[in-house]
Amino acid sequence: MSVKQRVLGKSGLVVSEIGHGLWGMGGWTDADDKVSRAALRLSVEGGCTFFDSAFAYGNGRSDTLAGELAHEHHHRPLVLASKIPPANWKWPSTPASPLNGVFPRAHVLDYAERIRRAFGRTIDLLQFHVWEDAWAQQAEWQDTVAELKADGVIKAFGLSLNRWQPENGILAIETGLVDAVQVIYNVFDQSPEDSLFPVCRARNVGVIARVPFDEGSLGGKMTAKTRFPQDDWRSRYFGPENLPQTIARVEALKKIVPKGMSLPEVALRFILSEPTVSTVIAGMRAPEHVRANLAASHKGPLPEDMIAKLRAHRWDRKPASWSD
Ligand SMILES: NC(=O)c1ccc[n+]([C@@H]2O[C@H](COP(=O)([O-])OP(=O)(O)OC[C@H]3O[C@@H](n4cnc5c(N)ncnc54)[C@H](OP(=O)(O)O)[C@@H]3O)[C@@H](O)[C@H]2O)c1
Repeated sequence: MSVKQRVLGKSGLVVSEIGHGLWGMGGWTDADDKVSRAALRLSVEGGCTFFDSAFAYGNGRSDTLAGELAHEHHHRPLVLASKIPPANWKWPSTPASPLNGVFPRAHVLDYAERIRRAFGRTIDLLQFHVWEDAWAQQAEWQDTVAELKADGVIKAFGLSLNRWQPENGILAIETGLVDAVQVIYNVFDQSPEDSLFPVCRARNVGVIARVPFDEGSLGGKMTAKTRFPQDDWRSRYFGPENLPQTIARVEALKKIVPKGMSLPEVALRFILSEPTVSTVIAGMRAPEHVRANLAASHKGPLPEDMIAKLRAHRWDRKPASWSD
């Protein structure tokens, strides 16, 4: 059985409901191209058709891996997404950041071309890697996106919303120029349901749910003693301010996982139970993770009573110095 497919909003792109996130392959300290290529191939064989990369993941490293994969499987309808890095290389953006310091036309065209070359073909979905709704009405990004579409460099345009700011994209969606948004949505981070998802439904904007495992904690294997190398982003995210409370919450969740299910399966099926979601992008390199995650698609939505129990584990967080 192959992974079920959904439509990515008004882009019309058909994508597997479990997609493959490539950040770990380009930007985490334990990335190994041989392992990454094997995971990506396994994913294609299992029916995954959506691959989410970004130029910033290893300065084009994951874009190149995605391009190689598409070349190798040119007979399959793979959908490749990537992201333009902010020109100031700062994550997240802030409301005070001027658009022309973050996504000036020349910068966007330059990086779109680099990504197109790495993909070896039209970019199916090009996203901005940060976003501020204060920019929504500005002509510079609107005209640049229209130009990229008219020139056939991209098929669809999207925004990757800043961590824990799901509302900071709604004004851009209202312009009608955004085909898809990428947002953190998982058992902990349920707040996109409040305001973002209703607007996406009304505007037929595709939703890419990212970070389904809360960067790994919902995989269920981490402990209070887990440590990452200092130059790995996860050493900050899972630092002393966040790791102990995360592990306590994960342990509480494990207690409600029904017999015969695993925590990562519950984490994915919770997201798949939300019909507004077009695809869930899981970061996965280990073959057993690829197999397990793709299998979650066949199992379908979770029963209502399980969803109700998971609602109680919602954890609303505010961006912090360690979170991006
Ligand atoms: N600003 C942005 O635009 C932004 C930010 C973050 C993420 N993203 C996108 O979202 C994707 C997903 O997020 P993420 O990779 O950061 O985090 P994630 O998917 O929440 O977590 C990935 C971690 O979970 C582990 N894992 C995967 N499947 C598992 C399973 N079945 N059981 C146990 N552990 C499992 C992975 O291990 P292995 O890798 O060893 O298999 C990896 O350590 C990224 O790859 C990227 O494409 C975008």
